[in-house]
Amino acid sequence: MSRPIAVIGGTGPAGMGLALRWARAGEAVIIGSRDASRAQAAADAIRQRVSGQGQVSGLENAVACAASDLLVLTVPFAGQAELLKQLKPAIRAGSVLIDATVALAASVGGRASRTLGVWQGSAAQQAAELAPKGVSVAAAFHNLSAEVLNGDEDVDCDVIVCSDDPNATQAAMALAATIPGARAIDGGKLENARVLEQITALLIGLNMGHKGHSGLRITGLPEVAYRKTG
Ligand SMILES: NC(=O)c1ccc[n+]([C@@H]2O[C@H](COP(=O)([O-])OP(=O)(O)OC[C@H]3O[C@@H](n4cnc5c(N)ncnc54)[C@H](OP(=O)(O)O)[C@@H]3O)[C@@H](O)[C@H]2O)c1
Repeated sequence: MSRPIAVIGGTGPAGMGLALRWARAGEAVIIGSRDASRAQAAADAIRQRVSGQGQVSGLENAVACAASDLLVLTVPFAGQAELLKQLKPAIRAGSVLIDATVALAASVGGRASRTLGVWQGSAAQQAAELAPKGVSVAAAFHNLSAEVLNGDEDVDCDVIVCSDDPNATQAAMALAATIPGARAIDGGKLENARVLEQITALLIGLNMGHKGHSGLRITGLPEVAYRKTG
């Protein structure tokens, strides 16, 4: 990637895990947080684990948005809309915003194995509605377990990317393909994100029932449909 990847809400397990994998792949990563010192502490923790690979810094969310046009949003659904409204002036025109938010009922005190109804259809579609004009939104990374991402093994999961903008799809697929073990697949329109979010709830339920870290593999497509490292 020629540009830094700003992970907004990157201090949680999902954002940290993605940032760790991208730093290991040699990418420049900015961890975003509502609190600059929390962002810096998260960046320090990742730097210690990657010893010299990539470049990792930590900035307050709005400053992180201003510093990059490649944004990945990893916040709980309950905070997504409010945060996007706050960040609107800071998000650069022409940015790609990759949303990993899952509208889990757990984000409002319900069960983690259930999703909430979202008026727009999915959290990603809500993000697209709230993002500034000219910002392209893709949905991706919903089905990757943060616990696995924060480990050292290759992930055993495909990353389905949904977007109405081919540039955003390509950007998200390129990011997914840097994660060892992940295969990026173009999943079509942004409206399909609602299915990705539902699958996450199912995977969480499987993890709780079987005590594991499940992932998702799509089989039977021609080789050209899968984008992966190497
Ligand atoms: N965990 C997983 O395995 C996984 C996998 C795929 C997708 N996801 C999705 O990715 C998102 C993040 O997951 P997570 O487990 O990392 O979540 P999390 O730890 O609950 O939250 C991530 C970060 O978001 C920020 N945040 C929390 N509440 C906020 C609010 N009301 N407004 C703005 N920022 C807020 C916090 O950062 P600061 O306090 O530093 O600002 C927090 O560290 C969720 O939507 C989740 O469904 C998770």
